[in-house]
Amino acid sequence: MPDYPFAFNVPLLGGRPTRYDVHTARTLSAMNGQYADQAAYAALLAQGDVVVYEVYEIKRPEVVGELLHGISIVHPGRVGDEYFMTKGHFHAELATAEVYYCLQGSGRLVLETPEGDWSVQELRPGGVVYVPPRWAHRSVNTGDGDLAMLYVYPAHAGHDYGTIERQGFRKLVVERGGRPSVVDNPRWSNGNSET
Ligand code: F6R
Ligand code: ZN
Repeated sequence: MPDYPFAFNVPLLGGRPTRYDVHTARTLSAMNGQYADQAAYAALLAQGDVVVYEVYEIKRPEVVGELLHGISIVHPGRVGDEYFMTKGHFHAELATAEVYYCLQGSGRLVLETPEGDWSVQELRPGGVVYVPPRWAHRSVNTGDGDLAMLYVYPAHAGHDYGTIERQGFRKLVVERGGRPSVVDNPRWSNGNSET
């Protein structure tokens, strides 16, 4: 039985795609331990468990040759001075890449490798960021409205969230003087630290 081509639209000015199979909403409580300012995190959570980001994905077989693709939407907000962001991950199959196309909003894609290289790429409408194999990635919304992106990656890639949950990213994107700024993560740990 052949697979048939399909098409769908993604609104350029926000909102859900005209076709998707899986909708995931990630709330603040699911981001426990990810934000540097834990007191600000607890205070914000006490006011209510808001949705930080959403993903609309087309389901495809998770095998070599297929491509997973969908829309991610990071809502605006901050925990202390740190902007709302995705959890971020390495691909479980480390040697797999990804392409992001920014549809709406403004933000940064924060990237790093297991070897310690890092990069922060600007996201603005029409901008494409190529995530090479081996690079962990996290989307950060530095704007006042939604940050929406189309993403495409190999369907067999899988996700390793645990490494980032344990050690965080080396760099954080925070507001300094009303502007986004990249700073060292004071709590970054590669698991080898004695403290
Ligand atoms: C898939 C990918 C994106 C993210 C999405 C949500 O490999 O990079 O689709 O899944 O931006 O972020 P995470 O998966 O880190 O919660
Ligand atoms: Zn990915």
